[in-house]
Amino acid sequence: MTTSTRLVRKSAARRTSVGLKIVMATTGVLFLLFLLAHMYGNLKMLSGQAAFDGYAEHLRVIGEPVLPYAGFLWIMNTVLVLAVAGHIWAAVQLWRRANHARSTPYTTYHRVQATWSSRTMRWGGVTILLFVVFHLLQFTTVTIKVGGSFDSPYDRLVAAFSTWYIVAVYTLAMVALGMHLRHGTWSAVQTLGWSTQGRERAIKRTALAIALVIVVGFLLPPLAIFVGWVS
Ligand code: HEM
Repeated sequence: MTTSTRLVRKSAARRTSVGLKIVMATTGVLFLLFLLAHMYGNLKMLSGQAAFDGYAEHLRVIGEPVLPYAGFLWIMNTVLVLAVAGHIWAAVQLWRRANHARSTPYTTYHRVQATWSSRTMRWGGVTILLFVVFHLLQFTTVTIKVGGSFDSPYDRLVAAFSTWYIVAVYTLAMVALGMHLRHGTWSAVQTLGWSTQGRERAIKRTALAIALVIVVGFLLPPLAIFVGWVS
């Protein structure tokens, strides 16, 4: 292969990698927006049963009569499923490329860093995926029933989070989500080209703050139920 062919291939590969990273970053931003909205909705349960059940019902009548009952939720869930598929597909392609491209070994320092964050992202991502499947079976299809009454969305939350092992599962999942979000936000900012050396510290702090808001915001309702602040 001539040097110029090699250069053309290299730059094409770099362009594809940038494209894959943009897929990861934009789907990641979409998840973050969904999570913030979902967290806001969940926090309504701290205002009592009427507020939370009213909110859950409101979500189902958004867009009526143009959309059918729960039509908005179906559209949102379809977009989320497509985004999850795109996010995972791009991640797998990037890992493959990284493994194939590595003709010279990393120095020890870089290997430790790269392996730690890529392992955390990979296993964190798998954990979050398994959690979402469990979560949908519990709260959307109500196939998994743990605890007492399941008549309303509020009752389902109270039933679930009065049980210690469900609180433990959600706590572990939220910690995994927080770690994934922290590194993911940082990566997305690099990919979208908003990072400069001077902004590095501020970006890291913002990524940590976003992760903490999500983890604490999601864990408040389960913990409030578990310790008996709301019932
Ligand atoms: C403590 C944390 C969480 C609680 C208490 C919670 C609670 C709920 C509840 C009650 C529903 C059913 C809503 C309804 O049918 O009206 C729901 C749906 C859903 N949740 Fe969560 N959630 C939590 C975290 C998460 C996380 C971290 C994700 C994503 C990574 C997530 C993704 C979803 C999705 C995709 C739906 C389906 C939306 C729908 O069709 O209603 N949830 N959640």
